[in-house]
Amino acid sequence: MKAYTISKYGKQPLTLSELPIPVPTDTQVLVKINAASVNPIDLKRKHGDLRTIMATEFPLTLGHDFAGEVIQTGSDVHRFKVGDRVFGKLPDDHIGSFAEYVTVEAVNIARIPAELSDVQAAAIPLVGLTAYQALHNYLNVQPGQRVYIPAGSGGLGSLAIPIAAVLGAEVTTTASPKSVDRLKALGATTVVDYHQPNFLTQLGTFDAAFDLRGGQELTATFDHVKPGGRIVTVNGFPNRAFLKDQGDYYQLKAPMRFLLKLLSGRLDKKAKQRNIDYRFMLVKSSGAQLAELTDLLTTNHVLPTIDQTFTFDQTQAALDYVASGHATGKVVITQ
Ligand SMILES: NC(=O)c1ccc[n+]([C@@H]2O[C@H](COP(=O)([O-])OP(=O)(O)OC[C@H]3O[C@@H](n4cnc5c(N)ncnc54)[C@H](OP(=O)(O)O)[C@@H]3O)[C@@H](O)[C@H]2O)c1
Repeated sequence: MKAYTISKYGKQPLTLSELPIPVPTDTQVLVKINAASVNPIDLKRKHGDLRTIMATEFPLTLGHDFAGEVIQTGSDVHRFKVGDRVFGKLPDDHIGSFAEYVTVEAVNIARIPAELSDVQAAAIPLVGLTAYQALHNYLNVQPGQRVYIPAGSGGLGSLAIPIAAVLGAEVTTTASPKSVDRLKALGATTVVDYHQPNFLTQLGTFDAAFDLRGGQELTATFDHVKPGGRIVTVNGFPNRAFLKDQGDYYQLKAPMRFLLKLLSGRLDKKAKQRNIDYRFMLVKSSGAQLAELTDLLTTNHVLPTIDQTFTFDQTQAALDYVASGHATGKVVITQ
């Protein structure tokens, strides 16, 4: 099969490789991929930005999200059969959806509802699960709460806003002026132009924040969340609460723990001083949760926002477009 791979970290173009079609284990299915979406984490994995917390064996096929058709099932798989339309987010230690086929644990996939195309389905798993785990599991967003979600116009924000709105939150986001109408239509109450100087002072106070930005913007967010409130970031440094929760895959050696403590200790301290529950999170794969989320989306007529589609042989161009940092919604590769 054809697959887009890297054999070392760096900014070099992807290699189009010929690989054997993988064979599913007893608990896996083999999926023929019809669509795969691109996420900034594909670039982070490619550049080696996550090497401290994610081990990589080369050659590595990139790609986390997929939608496709079950071609073969392992002997212990009873919930899916050949021909089922399925989608999912591949786990961090078994990625590779920029390929014609992929094997995946059956527990990490869900059926695609009839009302979603393969392109729409491929646009949901990683950003949908991230938004759902952040807003529902960690922030426990309740109806009427004021929630801050910066950078609402990208792939993640464009699904996080409607999910937060469906959970009953009053959502404030930041974006360029061109995206204001679209983000209000998705459910944002207030859209602040992040190009204005001191835009953070216009924000007011929130019950919770789902940070997509990290850096200075994350630090400043602490001044806008009430005592007793919560902040979850997907773009800061792994912090104490995150490391405490992790399983074997993310067990870090002592020097690395020390480094991360240096990088995240300041915000942990700030959170403690202000009585804010603060954590970094990395999205987890889950077919059951993807099915739960998809029910929520379809019941409330929420669709993912698709910015552009690219063909499989344009995979590098799709990655370059996401690397520009200006995608307005999801970028999907079709086969
Ligand atoms: N930890 C995790 O599990 C996890 C999971 C998912 C995503 N993430 C991270 O979350 C971040 C967002 O992901 P994404 O898929 O939404 O990325 P994306 O689609 O590439 O985001 C692009 C969008 O960001 C907007 N933007 C750029 N600079 C901004 C700023 N200073 N303020 C407000 N908006 C700004 C751009 O709008 P303009 O063009 O108008 O500037 C563009 O629409 C990424 O860093 C990603 O790696 C982490």
